[in-house]
Amino acid sequence: MANKNLAQAKNAKNDEFYTQYEDIQKEVNAYLEYNPDVFRDKTVLLPCDDPKWSNFTRFFAQNFERFGIKKLISTSYAPDSKKLKYGTFYGDFFIDDGTPQFDKEKAQTKGRIYILDKDINGDERIDINDLKWGYLEGDGDFNSNEVKELRNEADIIVTNPPFSLFREFISWIMEADKQFLIIGNMNAITYKEVFPLIKENRIWLGNGFNKGNAYFRVCVPREDYANGVYDFENQLVKFRNCCWFTNIDHGRRHQPLQLMTMADNLKHSKHKEIKGKTSYLHYDNYDAIEVPFTDAIPGDYDGIMGVPISFLDKYCPEQFEILGITQRNDDPYKTKKYTKEEYKNANDLNARGVIITNGIPKSIYARILIRKKQ
Ligand SMILES: C[S@@+](CC[C@H](N)C(=O)[O-])C[C@H]1O[C@@H](n2cnc3c(N)ncnc32)[C@H](O)[C@@H]1O
Repeated sequence: MANKNLAQAKNAKNDEFYTQYEDIQKEVNAYLEYNPDVFRDKTVLLPCDDPKWSNFTRFFAQNFERFGIKKLISTSYAPDSKKLKYGTFYGDFFIDDGTPQFDKEKAQTKGRIYILDKDINGDERIDINDLKWGYLEGDGDFNSNEVKELRNEADIIVTNPPFSLFREFISWIMEADKQFLIIGNMNAITYKEVFPLIKENRIWLGNGFNKGNAYFRVCVPREDYANGVYDFENQLVKFRNCCWFTNIDHGRRHQPLQLMTMADNLKHSKHKEIKGKTSYLHYDNYDAIEVPFTDAIPGDYDGIMGVPISFLDKYCPEQFEILGITQRNDDPYKTKKYTKEEYKNANDLNARGVIITNGIPKSIYARILIRKKQ
């Protein structure tokens, strides 16, 4: 049920899921371990954020000096534009907080911008207390010219973007050719906007959440989740298959997978689909073998292999090259073309790998096609 949550979020246009501080910290640490200067002298933009609710601004503001950031900019989306399905938890935006900037009407219709770049309170350090804020001209839509200008000014973009606009968001970053670190669903790998970038090693998966399970905070208690998905006590919702997408390097992606040979897999694999068989299955519409589990990839096989998309979480570009994906219609990503004549019985030949056993075609879930590097 939990994995249906992103789809639910999409349908309901409900994008108010807030990232936990520890998750941001754990992820960012992986890049700092690899390169301690990754943020040094950089302008960092946190769009689709909201310091009132979000931890991104808090985390980067608190670490501003330690990371050597030049300028931190965070923008939020106007309450009126959010069209929330689940209540008006943002009500406190309309309450006069006593700051001279506060404007009752703008509070509803305009996005906010928070900037941190110098010590304004005179305590000789730059931290969260030096954040200054104001209203944007518009509602803070990342696609507005105003926020695009901030994007163009930035070196690195970090956020958990609206789930319903992930494709648009990643295209928005790539068209400006920026470094980034964003949260998304692993299925986004198969999007036509995303897969070619992964294949070309222009983007990859980040360090990651614990076993792909991420917990996000919602700001109003929710009763529309199945048991075990929503925790009423701390208002956390569990999402499966969540990952970070990035083009910033980290150490884990350079650690090769430790793999058994094909012969050893066939003898000792813990998977019943492999153990005791005489060979790996071969697709009928791709010149590749089917490897249903990442830990069953035969380390000594030189041909093409179809592996689950979750392989990308373990992908080391020095170990394997990515050749394609079976679920795309785009011909350039196929390793072999087939004719209707050859596979007339299969239902979904335009997309997935197919294995025909005793005349019965079985379509296999999306696979990444990889080959060992020599
Ligand atoms: C998944 S939430 C994440 C919030 C915050 N970045 C965090 O991780 O805690 C995405 C946010 O993007 C906002 N949003 C939705 N559409 C947007 C748009 N077109 N432009 C900017 N922000 C948008 C939503 O209202 C929501 O607050």
